[in-house]
Amino acid sequence: MSKAIVFLTRLLPEPVMEQLRIHFDLRYDPLDRPLNKEEIKEGVREAEGMITMLSDPIDETLLKGAPHLKIIANYAVGYNNIDLIAAKALGIAVTNTPGVLTETTADLSWALLMAVARRIPEGDQMLQSSQWSGWSPTELLGNDIYGKKLGIVGMGRIAQAVVRRAAGFSMSVNYYSRRRLPEIERLLGVSYLPFQDLLSESDYLSLHLPLNQASLHLIGQSAFQRMKPNAILINTSRGPIVDEKALVQALKEKQIAGAGLDVYEEEPVISPALLKMKNVITLPHIGSASSETRIAMGLMVINNLLAVFKNEPPANMVN
Ligand code: DGY
Repeated sequence: MSKAIVFLTRLLPEPVMEQLRIHFDLRYDPLDRPLNKEEIKEGVREAEGMITMLSDPIDETLLKGAPHLKIIANYAVGYNNIDLIAAKALGIAVTNTPGVLTETTADLSWALLMAVARRIPEGDQMLQSSQWSGWSPTELLGNDIYGKKLGIVGMGRIAQAVVRRAAGFSMSVNYYSRRRLPEIERLLGVSYLPFQDLLSESDYLSLHLPLNQASLHLIGQSAFQRMKPNAILINTSRGPIVDEKALVQALKEKQIAGAGLDVYEEEPVISPALLKMKNVITLPHIGSASSETRIAMGLMVINNLLAVFKNEPPANMVN
């Protein structure tokens, strides 16, 4: 039996590539670089399956040029890069990779929170540049984490994993989400607050919600005005949830104390001002970037593709 043609937009970790080659007639650009829209359109023309990254915008025009396409398997939990309505109208399944990246992304949210609060990169830089002259009682004073108030926006899997880690720091944790979740409140000991109150109460505000019309620029000028001057913003979800210009302004005016960012409004472009601020840590969208997790995501993608090619419902269908 001939193998289904699958177009892959970026190389995945080698153990996943091996499995992909076994199961499918795999097409990809061996140079492993971001492909432009025309290149993706060309690549997917013959394909029955497509493996996309969160950075690949997949719109109706592109999909109309792929008459054999049965499935778009997005290599991410978020799928705001795909026009779900167009895919559904054309009978194309869209899948994502939930669950397997939850703990890894929660770890990174905490890494950012701790690094900003305790000024880790500044300390590292001081030694690297031979600027340390010895212990000082006033050097690199940061913010306590222990016992502080953590505010969480959203209460999905990753948010819950972030909350579980907060127990080790005896933090009081509040959350806001569109739906109240009494069972989670009971299990994790978190309290619901209206959004405006969450903003004004939190010492750390961590974002864990999908990007959609309701969350676009949710954290903008008016949100920063409500936040505490000692507050630190952490974003490992999607960049456009934060109005990046308003964030730069809020940091300049010391409306908040700092930010830990893994995601940006116009990736890979970042507001240059953010790169110059010592109280901001910027990472290149590596929330799920551990070897174990990226392999697990790849295996999930393969299972979704195999299911669709067997005319079975894929486990992680989102449309
Ligand atoms: C996702 O899967 O949506 C994450 O942003 C990847 O790091």
